[in-house]
Amino acid sequence: MKKIAVLFSGKGTNFAYLAEHLHHKDLEIAVALTNNPEAEGIAIAKAHGIPLEIIDPKAYESREAYDAAVVERLHLYTPELTVLAGFMRILTPVFTEQIRAINLHPSLLPRHKGLHAIEKSFEDNFDEGGVSVHWVTSELDGGKMIVQKRIPKAGHDLQSYTEAVKRIEKEALSEAILALLK
Ligand code: GAR
Repeated sequence: MKKIAVLFSGKGTNFAYLAEHLHHKDLEIAVALTNNPEAEGIAIAKAHGIPLEIIDPKAYESREAYDAAVVERLHLYTPELTVLAGFMRILTPVFTEQIRAINLHPSLLPRHKGLHAIEKSFEDNFDEGGVSVHWVTSELDGGKMIVQKRIPKAGHDLQSYTEAVKRIEKEALSEAILALLK
């Protein structure tokens, strides 16, 4: 079975979706890794018996040193693909040149890179927002596109639009992973 790594920083709802729907069916989540010792997603790894690595940036002097530690841990699990599912760190070439990774972002990139992408998408002048899954490079939310899914904004308030994003990003992420692991 093909192995992936999943990196997250917070709630981990996308990680949870992958653990519930794909793990031990279409693929194996060989490791989950977080930068945040308080992340809610930690409980998901425990619930599914997925090996967990908590690597706290506080213990490292530079972004490069941190990324080197992450790369070293990831290599131990030999994932074919690494999935950034809400991993909220800017990555250096130490990571991007060694790890084949994809990232999920809650906007139709290249619109609204960075934080608050859902709110910014909802408030912009386009009729549609959406979600993107793209290859990771050292440019924040840059890299070649793999999957985009559009969400018409008509009839939504911010809350219902956010819920639609949260639902559709799980579809987009699963679709991208399964296509890449074929
Ligand atoms: C998701 O909405 C994901 O698209 C976003 O973080 C959230 C993580 O949610 N990622 C980015 O903004 C990356 N730039 P989760 O922890 O519940 O999966």
